[in-house]
Amino acid sequence: KAKPESTLSEGFQAVGSLEQLEENGVLINENLRVVVLQGVLGDLIALEQTCPHQGCAVLPTEERKRLICPCHGSQFTIRGKLLRGPAKTDLETYEVKAEDKQVLVKL
Ligand code: FES
Repeated sequence: KAKPESTLSEGFQAVGSLEQLEENGVLINENLRVVVLQGVLGDLIALEQTCPHQGCAVLPTEERKRLICPCHGSQFTIRGKLLRGPAKTDLETYEVKAEDKQVLVKL
């Protein structure tokens, strides 16, 4: 399959700079409600920031081991798997890539 010319035409959106992400391994775009994390192997993980319980914005812990919702304490792995309610479903994850010093996410 041929690679399309423009990544934007594939539905990817820029959520921030790679430099920002590399600073502490976390990039949060509050407008698009997306969290991008750098995994231990330098891989990128993109997740929706909206808690499936009542829609608060989840935040990664300092060591980037999980995401926690400040409203009622739901917890998720950095891959979005539900660890603890009251949320009942996982966080959605998105395709993500770095290109031209930008972090691009397919929302
Ligand atoms: Fe996240 Fe309630 S909105 S736990």
